[in-house]
Amino acid sequence: MTRQPLTVAVVGATGLVGGAMIQVLLERGFPVRELRLMASGRSAGRTTLVGGVARPVIEATPDAFAGVDIALFSAGASVSTELAPAAVRHGATVIDNSNAWRMDPAVPLVVSQVNPADAADHAGIIANPNCSTMQLVPVLMAIRDSVGIERVVVDTYQSVSGTGADAVAELEAQLGAHVAGEPLSASVYPHPIAFNALPEIDVFLDNGYTREEWKVVTESRKILHLPELRISCTAVRVPVFTSHSEAVHVETREPLSPERARRLFAAVPGVVIQDDPANHVYPLASNATGRDEVFVGRVRQDPSIADGRGLAFWVVSDNLRKGAATNAVEIAELIAEHDWIRPAAERGPVGSGRPA
Ligand SMILES: NC(=O)c1ccc[n+]([C@@H]2O[C@H](COP(=O)([O-])OP(=O)(O)OC[C@H]3O[C@@H](n4cnc5c(N)ncnc54)[C@H](OP(=O)(O)O)[C@@H]3O)[C@@H](O)[C@H]2O)c1
Repeated sequence: MTRQPLTVAVVGATGLVGGAMIQVLLERGFPVRELRLMASGRSAGRTTLVGGVARPVIEATPDAFAGVDIALFSAGASVSTELAPAAVRHGATVIDNSNAWRMDPAVPLVVSQVNPADAADHAGIIANPNCSTMQLVPVLMAIRDSVGIERVVVDTYQSVSGTGADAVAELEAQLGAHVAGEPLSASVYPHPIAFNALPEIDVFLDNGYTREEWKVVTESRKILHLPELRISCTAVRVPVFTSHSEAVHVETREPLSPERARRLFAAVPGVVIQDDPANHVYPLASNATGRDEVFVGRVRQDPSIADGRGLAFWVVSDNLRKGAATNAVEIAELIAEHDWIRPAAERGPVGSGRPA
């Protein structure tokens, strides 16, 4: 990796993902010359903790990106749509965690261990996928590269931190209200999330899917370079604070035994097998939280598909870390290591307007 320290901006620094980004940058010793913490005007003048030290937060404005080398955006799609092109014009390379740019053909959508080379072909913005896609594609890659994929069905069990800090507070409040014997009030979600499973994540589309479900479909195709991949998803919000779980069913092109599948999955960097059902060992959200790996278990043959071409398994990962912050920092490491970024001081404004 480049030894030259870089100026890094975190946009959404007061949020759950922004906080995780700061944490991961510190943990991995990313070479930071200046860490510029940005949020909305509401947070300007406040501080946020960086390694236990209170650091000032500034308002994210176009001019705040002057001199920034890498900008990690995690403040929602409208902020990314408005400010990422401005950051690029100031010479920054943007790694964007929202869905604003993911399906733009000119923007690479990258999972560090699946399609790192795609990051080379950027014009200023690199997109980080949706958290539920993120943990799925490293495992699907192993199947694609060995026996081929005919069809995928994935059902997600997603934690409330995937919605943001307000949703975490809402679940906590509902748990407290239940204990106190009070009615549960809901504002972030349309129904109480406590003691429920809500089959509604993001808005409903005309095709009957939710946008979250459709993100899994379209983003998986793009990252895996399988534009015709047959894939369907049901995305469900569950009363878990952190880490998403997924039940995955794959129809493979050639037969694939569970034993071989476990070996293939374990060979993917960052994938860990936890699969000893007799001893109640399988991936759990509570164990995955705070970790960077994707955990896979319950690997078994799906007998509803002939000739040993059906495989079912369970995938769990921390949505705030690998699902968002860790992959973003891994992309930052990748572009620094391969010199796919130049320090802003040596780089003129992009100015082509391509990302905008
Ligand atoms: N949570 C996940 O698992 C996950 C995974 C993948 C992607 N994402 C995406 O990451 C983004 C943030 O998620 P989160 O969970 O961190 O949400 P969050 O906890 O609600 O935090 C939102 C952050 O965005 C900032 N923000 C809001 N409006 C802004 C504006 N106009 N200008 C600048 N900053 C603004 C907030 O700053 P203030 O404190 O000043 O309001 C806060 O720092 C979303 O796009 C989400 O879809 C989240």
